[in-house]
Amino acid sequence: MQVASREFTSVTPENSMKWRSLAPAPDEYDFSGADQLVDFALANGQRLRGHTLFWHRLNGLPSWLHAELDAASDPAARLRELMADHTATVVGRYAGRIAQWDVINEPLGIASGDFDRENIFYQLLGEEYLDLALLHAHAADPSAELFINETFTEFQPQKFDALIALAQRVLARGAPLHGIGLQGHFFLRAPDEAVLRDQLRRIAALGLKAEITELDIPLPLFDTTPDPLAAQAQAYADVFNACLAVPLCSGITVWGVDDAHTWLDSFVITAGNAPNRPLLFDGQLQAKPAYHAVVDALLDAVPWRIVSN
Ligand code: XIL
Repeated sequence: MQVASREFTSVTPENSMKWRSLAPAPDEYDFSGADQLVDFALANGQRLRGHTLFWHRLNGLPSWLHAELDAASDPAARLRELMADHTATVVGRYAGRIAQWDVINEPLGIASGDFDRENIFYQLLGEEYLDLALLHAHAADPSAELFINETFTEFQPQKFDALIALAQRVLARGAPLHGIGLQGHFFLRAPDEAVLRDQLRRIAALGLKAEITELDIPLPLFDTTPDPLAAQAQAYADVFNACLAVPLCSGITVWGVDDAHTWLDSFVITAGNAPNRPLLFDGQLQAKPAYHAVVDALLDAVPWRIVSN
């Protein structure tokens, strides 16, 4: 907690604001975990990113949702109603306190630019679900910046193109979209600074903010290099430099504080490589080379330097 309050200017919940975590039943909410995080961040003067309203993968959906929709005479109408209620309840509760919301998480297929066919929102409502969610969120908190967040676009140019096209359609329909998040889970491939910078620029060219929202870079990626911790540090610096080069890149969020607490060590695709050690602090909360590389990148970007001896 001390590291989280001392070292970071922004906070996001890993799980506690997902629909499944918040709503044990359709009309029942338990905000205890989410409130705790909000109180912590505000007490420390930190910005909050809300994550995430609508996500159909892993632990994103409430366990009761499918049964609830199956039982409805008009499942699409019931889903619209549930989405409206959920957004009003959650975004409304934290209005003025949560600066950014990942309203939609991962609309596209993992390895394609098409909508994910397994996405219950898309199945029942089509692309309209994006606009609906954004409009409800905007009504509940007009000051919140609303994001679509996507994964594995950083090394899949076609998927990234599809994400841009999607954002353009949403904007053309007049829905309130303010930013695009690239998750930055680099466990399949290390980041490429030039590619990432170009993608962030293309987001900015739409007039949208861009953020890296869930950054982690596992150490085993660099096993074949002489100094894996140094290579990991360089990869972190590359991500930060890409963002620093783009004025509308407004933030980078790492997906965890220290290597003893990373989802990658239990996630099915990456658990076999545990310990993944993908973060800025080691399991003893000591700053790693990656931490120092990030600090250097940030200091280098400050237009003035304090010179001392
Ligand atoms: C992950 C959490 O880190 C895990 O604890 C949980 O078991 C599953 O979800 N993309 C996202 C995040 O948008 O919400 C996911 O978080 C990681 C992938």
